[in-house]
Amino acid sequence: MKGHVKSLTSPYPGSQVERWPVPPGKVSWSVDWPEYQPVEYTAPPVLSRPLWADPPHSEESFHPKYNALDGPVQRTSFEGVYLVENGKPRNPKGRTGVTGRGLLGRWGPNHAADPIITRWKRNTAGEKKIDPRSGKAVLQFVAIQRKDCGQWAIPGGMVDPGELFTAALRREFCEEALNSLEKRVEEGDTQERIQSLFSQEHVPIYNGYVDDPRNTDNSWMETQAANFHDDTGHILDQLALEAGDDAGKVHWVDINQNCSLYASHSHFIQIVAEKRGAHW
Ligand code: RP5
Repeated sequence: MKGHVKSLTSPYPGSQVERWPVPPGKVSWSVDWPEYQPVEYTAPPVLSRPLWADPPHSEESFHPKYNALDGPVQRTSFEGVYLVENGKPRNPKGRTGVTGRGLLGRWGPNHAADPIITRWKRNTAGEKKIDPRSGKAVLQFVAIQRKDCGQWAIPGGMVDPGELFTAALRREFCEEALNSLEKRVEEGDTQERIQSLFSQEHVPIYNGYVDDPRNTDNSWMETQAANFHDDTGHILDQLALEAGDDAGKVHWVDINQNCSLYASHSHFIQIVAEKRGAHW
């Protein structure tokens, strides 16, 4: 990921806050810009001190170890060592027009995991569908519609402190695409199917910064996106998708360049299509 674009959009999600406008030529911190006066914003739910959020920097007992594993909280970045300026971490991709944490809980990187679950699109006879324009088979992935913004997305989520990202991939898929918070899915035939999908070696797709509209100058999203593929379609054909948690809807979606998805998710989907030699 080169620069960011969605991290510059106003108003800031879930608010009326307008970012300080940052033209493309002024995004990079290496460009001197003394007039830059970003708006400070941390959303009320973050300030209310939920378990998933850091305290404010003004709290005397808060001594985060940036660029390190800080107890169970991962504060290293896939983008390398980030600068800590006046005690606060600085977004490695540049200015965003907002300081503070916005809707994000952690100062610095907020780590997520994105499970990209795929199968080949097939006709009723079970044959793979070929796109006539590219002559390549069409892949499908499990997409959810986010409740917060209505955009379609990969069913990813935050990695909990101390949690392995591979465990987060499975947990998030189960919560958002199988509604595991309200239904027992880790038993019987469903559990066997989930197990057989996630016990295969995942294909790493992307590790790094996400161009997420919630990013600020001091807090940003990073993710590890991985692909689990059901080549025959037999693992997933009997698995009933049901939206849960932050997801309002869940569907199999055809992968192609018209996929307009949340944050950097279209980019991740494109990498999957290229790796699998599928239509894009
Ligand atoms: C995106 O936000 C990540 O790629 C991941 O899909 C998602 C995690 O945030 P929540 O879905 O938990 O809000 O940047």
